[in-house]
Amino acid sequence: MSAQPGSGDPWPLGWLEGLAARSAECLGYPSHHGFTNRELADLLALPLNNLGDPFSPSRSATHAHDLEREVVRAVARVAGADPEKCRGYVTSGSTESVMHALAAGRDTLRSVTGVRPFVVASDQAHGCVSKAAKILDLKLIPVPSGPSGALDIPALASILSAWPDHPCLAVATSGTTFLGAVDPVGPMARALEASHPGRHRLHIDAALAGFLLPHTGASDWNLASGGHSFSVSGHKMLGVPVPCGISVWLDGAFSWDRSTPGYLGGPDITLAGSRAGLAAGALWLALCRWPRERLSREAGQCLENARWLAASLREEGWTALRHPHSATVVFPKPADHLCQRWQLHVEGEAAHVVAVPRVSRRLLEQFMESLGPAPEFSCDFLPERTDLR
Ligand SMILES: Cc1ncc(COP(=O)(O)O)c(C=O)c1O
Repeated sequence: MSAQPGSGDPWPLGWLEGLAARSAECLGYPSHHGFTNRELADLLALPLNNLGDPFSPSRSATHAHDLEREVVRAVARVAGADPEKCRGYVTSGSTESVMHALAAGRDTLRSVTGVRPFVVASDQAHGCVSKAAKILDLKLIPVPSGPSGALDIPALASILSAWPDHPCLAVATSGTTFLGAVDPVGPMARALEASHPGRHRLHIDAALAGFLLPHTGASDWNLASGGHSFSVSGHKMLGVPVPCGISVWLDGAFSWDRSTPGYLGGPDITLAGSRAGLAAGALWLALCRWPRERLSREAGQCLENARWLAASLREEGWTALRHPHSATVVFPKPADHLCQRWQLHVEGEAAHVVAVPRVSRRLLEQFMESLGPAPEFSCDFLPERTDLR
């Protein structure tokens, strides 16, 4: 199909219908398309540019900084912090959020100690951590994960003791990308405080599970247990139609370069220049539509659907793993055409489904009906993770 601008229709023939059909069957990549978001059309008529710090006065008046501040405060609550003692902004996604935390942490720790920090994160951390470390020219030391897929604390302590003279930037993942494991934030914060008192920053990357974990009974996953900054994606569990993320940090955790462009009202605390006010508006709408009780109900349904899928796979002879507080179900990779049809996230010989709110029981039943017999092989890492069965 080739695009033909000027043919009268806004989109190439069949393009929209094809996209809608493919989106409906996507099981491996978390997104939610439940809302029509017609109200966002109101914002498209306005030149909304959320340039700069939403908490500083702005020289321009065509922005949605007011909505953005409310979104940051709402996420501070989700993160277990006092919204009045937090700052933050809406990013382009969790990759930018992690990059921002490492960049701000690097500059802050270097200005205090005169030494370039190193980065630690579990070997299950999202690739954006190594990407950010590379771009920021920081050494990344991966910390082995334990059998459940969460960061191993003795392994972290031993790395920290081997690097006593360098400040440390740590990333905890609350809901790892592939297994859905939750790194123990409290023990990580205590290990860092013991070895690098006052010379570390701990960021919590809750890209996928940040809007799910508050409703699962999980503990030790957010700023209530320690750490300095937190981020979550808007387009995953919450299903905002524009890819975006929210970064939140404790006020005073970072210091900022004051020599910033004159057209900003205050110090440039963001990584981007111009930023879409549309994303802040979409997040605001989603948070209005998903008050705590509704999110809690949806989260319960997601966990229930994930439990059902894991049990159904096992009944059919498949190995299936699910972390207790996760909507992610991991199992041996099925045939390639099924991985493609259902857009499964595949890593080596394993695949996963994430039961976000869009993924109904009916869709999961259709997925199960399409699966052939269980494969003879078992994924390398699956047998070790007995605690997840
Ligand atoms: C734990 C984690 N961190 C970061 C990211 C990157 O998020 P984004 O695509 O919003 O940049 C992901 C994406 O899956 C993730 O699972």
